[in-house]
Amino acid sequence: MNTEMKQYPAELLSGKEIAAAIKEEVAEEVSKLRVVGIEPCLVVVRVGEDAASEVYVNSKIKTARELGIVSEHKHLAADVSQEDLLATVEELNERDEVDGILVQLPLPKHIDETAVLETIDPEKDVDGFHPVNAGRLFQGHEALVPCTPAGVIDMLKRKGIELKGANAVVVGRSNIVGKPMAMLLLQEHATVTICHSRTKDLAAVCSQADVLIAAVGVTGIIKEEHIKPGAAVVDVGMNSIEDTEEAKGFFGEDELEKRLRTIEKRGSTLVGDVNAKAAKSKAGYFTPVPGGVGLLTVAMLMKNTVKAARMRRGEQ
Ligand code: GUN
Repeated sequence: MNTEMKQYPAELLSGKEIAAAIKEEVAEEVSKLRVVGIEPCLVVVRVGEDAASEVYVNSKIKTARELGIVSEHKHLAADVSQEDLLATVEELNERDEVDGILVQLPLPKHIDETAVLETIDPEKDVDGFHPVNAGRLFQGHEALVPCTPAGVIDMLKRKGIELKGANAVVVGRSNIVGKPMAMLLLQEHATVTICHSRTKDLAAVCSQADVLIAAVGVTGIIKEEHIKPGAAVVDVGMNSIEDTEEAKGFFGEDELEKRLRTIEKRGSTLVGDVNAKAAKSKAGYFTPVPGGVGLLTVAMLMKNTVKAARMRRGEQ
């Protein structure tokens, strides 16, 4: 198997490169659809003033435009009522020219997130969070699949990393990443284990993984003892380190200086769930943070929007 033969130090998997390849393919598809009179259209709904959400949503709208996808940003006040938010979603369900609807999470506390996600027409659910799509994925049928785990599979396949028969361990069981990730790996014929905060001996399980996916949101929870030599280690975490001493245990000589300068300048540096020094020295492949999986999510959202447009309009 590929992962067993892989030599370390790890080959870094560049999300930037793979996202660029996906976006190029999507732009080509959009041009072809335009010839037959189909204009894929994505609407992103954002509620309130969460700073991270604003950055993410702007990036989604900008990327859509770059690829020729029609896009619209609906920004609602933080105190919008549940009723009005649901009415907005229903309006978008009704608009025939809209192919994709995404409601950016997190939502304000007074909003019932599940009710909102369940109101989105499953055919337009480009996040793949609706129970119909989650259920279809679970049963192995064609579905709109959550963007981050779909991007991880796409990346592993493009890199020729063998999934069939591989031991895959997913750390994290969220509806957005962990659970769909496990289902997608199963679909690729991997032997899948899901770990979480109550797993008894995390290192014992993880160290058996040919493919290890970390998606728990705990800084550096995956260390040297969790990594099988030569494994493909995918870091979905998005955390930050503010403490320079912590950074010294996290990064090798190759990037420590740069990270310390970032902390000095901005007060923190972006990291994942995997100790970078350990992964670089022991894994066969590793997705850096930043520059890894994060960039794939937006690219896959564009792919899902085109897929939704095709499915809704009966194009193969
Ligand atoms: N917030 C963080 N990630 C996501 C995502 O993938 N989709 C949505 N809708 N909100 C998010």
